[in-house]
Amino acid sequence: MSVEKSLFGYLDENEPVYLYKITNKNGACVSLQTLGAGIQSLFVPDRNGGLADVVLGFDNPKDYTNPDYGYQGLAVGRWANRIRDGKFVFEGKEYNTPKNQGTWTLHGGGRFSFTNWEVEKTGEDFVTFFRFSPDGEDGFPGDFNIRIKYTLTEDNVLRVEYSVLSSSDTVANPTNHAYFNLSGDSSATIEGHILKINADYFTETDESQLPTGELGEVKGTMMDFTRPHKIGERIDEPFRAIIEGVGYDNNYCLNNYDGTLKEAAVLYDENSGRELAVYTDLPGIQLYCGGWLSRDYTVGKGESKVTFRRGVALETQFYPDSVNHKNFPVRFVKANEEFKTVTEFRFSVKK
Ligand code: BGC
Repeated sequence: MSVEKSLFGYLDENEPVYLYKITNKNGACVSLQTLGAGIQSLFVPDRNGGLADVVLGFDNPKDYTNPDYGYQGLAVGRWANRIRDGKFVFEGKEYNTPKNQGTWTLHGGGRFSFTNWEVEKTGEDFVTFFRFSPDGEDGFPGDFNIRIKYTLTEDNVLRVEYSVLSSSDTVANPTNHAYFNLSGDSSATIEGHILKINADYFTETDESQLPTGELGEVKGTMMDFTRPHKIGERIDEPFRAIIEGVGYDNNYCLNNYDGTLKEAAVLYDENSGRELAVYTDLPGIQLYCGGWLSRDYTVGKGESKVTFRRGVALETQFYPDSVNHKNFPVRFVKANEEFKTVTEFRFSVKK
């Protein structure tokens, strides 16, 4: 195991972005960038041992800072996904967050993902990023210290541990926004990937993709991934919780949530044999198939073109807008008490 630091590029003349690459004995490796504590590349073997990069991204750090490019690989917070009307009441007080999309807040609404994080610690197989977010940043309460520790194990598990310490009670819903394409070919659509999600319910949404507060049953609908099947099989069916033409961009309510680490979803690419099992201790997972990415393209890594449906994001989270729904399962942050959550991306191959 080893960790290697290199210069990735510049945000502006005075602002370098660094990469920290962890490599294991199989040659699997992850490059983590200081910008947004993000996953910049992730090479894992196929069934013949061939390594390929299975996450979308860019060669130029500046491209990551464009919210329209979809937060590729970046850490997201303080509150992932949507907050209705950019406001919520917490412990009797109203807080207002930026309406950076339509009438709502998306992914915290601020610079959380788009600034350089400090590297606090590195070891043989891990890197810990740190960011301080002062009280009131993007409207959220509490001096907020967040750490994200990425560990790559010898058996190709990328473990992501989030830890928050705040000066006052607050809300937190950090996640990672990697887009996976297990074929290793970012020009190939992910519609042929086979997906299973351990969820019997999803959060019903309105025409702006904001939760209504109701939970919908997946059974008998295109939302049902309880049995593995191709993502593309029903992706373009008309359905009340799907924006026409976009496809899946929905939160699933994971079965048997009890705050312990459990399998949430399994993604499989038949051609390469690569499989990804996502484990989390959180109650929800956003299945987003890159339906809002440019239909034309944006320039990706190397000569590649980042476009519509070339990656699957599996964002572990508390349900979107939980700050406004008392019936959604959520844990908040207590002042001066460490709040922790963990997600694992476990890679393997099927022969
Ligand atoms: C959201 C999408 C959004 C994407 C990129 C996902 O978590 O659900 O609506 O387009 O992130 O920002």
